[in-house]
Amino acid sequence: MSQVHKVRRAGDRMPLIAAATGEQPSRRPVWFMRQAGRSLPEYREIRVDRGMLESCFDPELVCEITMQPVRRHDTDGAILFSDIVVPLRAAGVDLDIVAGTGPVIAEPVRTAADVAALPRLERDEVGAVTSAISMILGELPDSVALIGFAGAPFTLASYLIEGGPSRTYERTKTMMRADPELWNQLMGKLTDITITSLQAQLDAGVDAVQLFDSWAGALSVADYQAYVAPHSSRVMAEIADYGVPRIHFGVGTGELLTAMTQVGADVIGVDWRVPLDVAAHRVGYGVAVQGNLDPTVLMAGDAVMERELRRVLGEGERAVAAGALGHIVNLGHGVLPNTDAEAVTRAVELIHTL
Ligand code: CP3
Repeated sequence: MSQVHKVRRAGDRMPLIAAATGEQPSRRPVWFMRQAGRSLPEYREIRVDRGMLESCFDPELVCEITMQPVRRHDTDGAILFSDIVVPLRAAGVDLDIVAGTGPVIAEPVRTAADVAALPRLERDEVGAVTSAISMILGELPDSVALIGFAGAPFTLASYLIEGGPSRTYERTKTMMRADPELWNQLMGKLTDITITSLQAQLDAGVDAVQLFDSWAGALSVADYQAYVAPHSSRVMAEIADYGVPRIHFGVGTGELLTAMTQVGADVIGVDWRVPLDVAAHRVGYGVAVQGNLDPTVLMAGDAVMERELRRVLGEGERAVAAGALGHIVNLGHGVLPNTDAEAVTRAVELIHTL
């Protein structure tokens, strides 16, 4: 644990960490997935002449972009500016992040030889990320939690196998079913990369981590249990000793919430489809809940925004009254690039005052 981290911890308990661990937060904690990104004019400006991946390996830039939404919106969490494919790139996988598309893999991983050739991630290869974390911890107010993250093995596998974003995940699901042994080899290697990346971030001092299994909602519960849960469980188990809240999130995962909690989550992330009190009931309580605001609510004007915020806050309160450990306010997925940054600031203000 870094020196900086100990000093931060000695101060007031962070509202976000309190809510994640069943303590009473001093104010209602809020952060937004993709809060650091194209909705911010200062982000667009700083990124004009720099590529996405290049930016992720520049510690000063990572620190600056991570801080931007905290300064502007007064959120209770800072999410490390990076991407789920950064550890793969760091390990040596040839890929790019294409604006408007997402990650694109130069040579998709489809055969036994491809899986065998997938490199391991060494700690020093994510040195830029851990340097950025030290810098951020030096700047972040004591009350604001720094959230590290990684892509879950399934979501990473889907990009590697498909070669980029997919609607059907057909090659991914085909490998999973047709060659479970190869699938498990690939998932095992990705699990190792994810663990190395998260442990590096935790050693550098992040206060919480979020495992993004963004596309797990493409699977049935039975397939998730058979092909994904053992690997995601290993990720969660290998970071459990840090005693830092582990958030687990995916889109369209209403049917998977229980399984995604059982792999070892302390906080379950919920998309806009399932109300938080319903989600808390589904997972059997005992964990904190996060999310559920539809990202487009931030675009619909203040009256709609206030109505929706009141709804989510009410459902969060009901979830906690019924046995959820706490409630962290967030969206059901990321801030959309066309969102007015000032609406986001007003949302945070409302969440802190309502
Ligand atoms: O503010 C934050 O949330 C921190 C940064 C963050 C990014 N990506 C920055 C980014 C985080 C946490 C991620 C995770 C990520 N990346 C996920 C999981 C979260 C989710 O959205 O479900 C996934 C699936 C990816 C893969 C990826 N990278 C996608 C789908 C895209 C969007 C493509 C596009 O242009 O719309 C990216 C690129 C990306 N990652 C951007 C940002 C700010 C946009 C690129 C840019 O600004 O040029």
